[in-house]
Amino acid sequence: MKQGDMAKRAAADAAAALVQDGMVVGLGSGSTLAYVVAALGRRVRDEGLRIVGIPTSTETEALALAEGITLAELDGSQIIDLAIDGADEVETGTLRLIKGLGAALLREKIVVEASRRFVVVADGSKIVTHLGERAPLPVEVVRFGQGSTARRLGELGGKPVLRLDKSGQPRITDGGNVIYDCGGFAPIRDPFTLQRQLKAIAGVVESGLFLECAEQAIIGAADGSTHVMRPGVT
Ligand code: A5P
Repeated sequence: MKQGDMAKRAAADAAAALVQDGMVVGLGSGSTLAYVVAALGRRVRDEGLRIVGIPTSTETEALALAEGITLAELDGSQIIDLAIDGADEVETGTLRLIKGLGAALLREKIVVEASRRFVVVADGSKIVTHLGERAPLPVEVVRFGQGSTARRLGELGGKPVLRLDKSGQPRITDGGNVIYDCGGFAPIRDPFTLQRQLKAIAGVVESGLFLECAEQAIIGAADGSTHVMRPGVT
């Protein structure tokens, strides 16, 4: 296993250990989350752990089903006990996040908002001093009038770039929208104002700014160790 994968797996195993019998668990998306799903699958098989997972993407749904994890839709009848998800950036001291390089940011944010607790899993490469340092900010936009919306993102300074898939076509999200990656906002020193400005644009569905929602970030290292970051602690 590659060193980066060892780090992701270490964080994932520690997060999966937080899950208790009977919990409803929000399952995020991405390569680190895939290790969480695998670890939960092992616990389901080996310990008889009973959980209900709420997946945030079709990819995670397929992985979880293959692991034998019971799934449900987020229909308002349940409160999610614990959401676990990866991140593209974790801001030290605040635990503010950029998410969405996997294009699942909208469902991920809905699941986080429906959860009592939110735990982030990542390796050390994701830690930044200011949001925007290593990742552009993904902004999910409805397809109708997307060019006009992109222009408004540009007027805000975002330098929006339409995300394409491997075949060069616009990447369509699970919600049927497109994503503009906005590298021009970096460094993001006032993410709350930026989030308000973005949400004031009618064609914007959501941004990848996840602010004041994570209770901890479990950071894995290549030697298999982990450390926990919390808001307010540097
Ligand atoms: C998915 O939309 C993202 O928010 C992911 O959580 C993020 O890209 C982290 O993915 P990795 O664990 O693959 O780095």
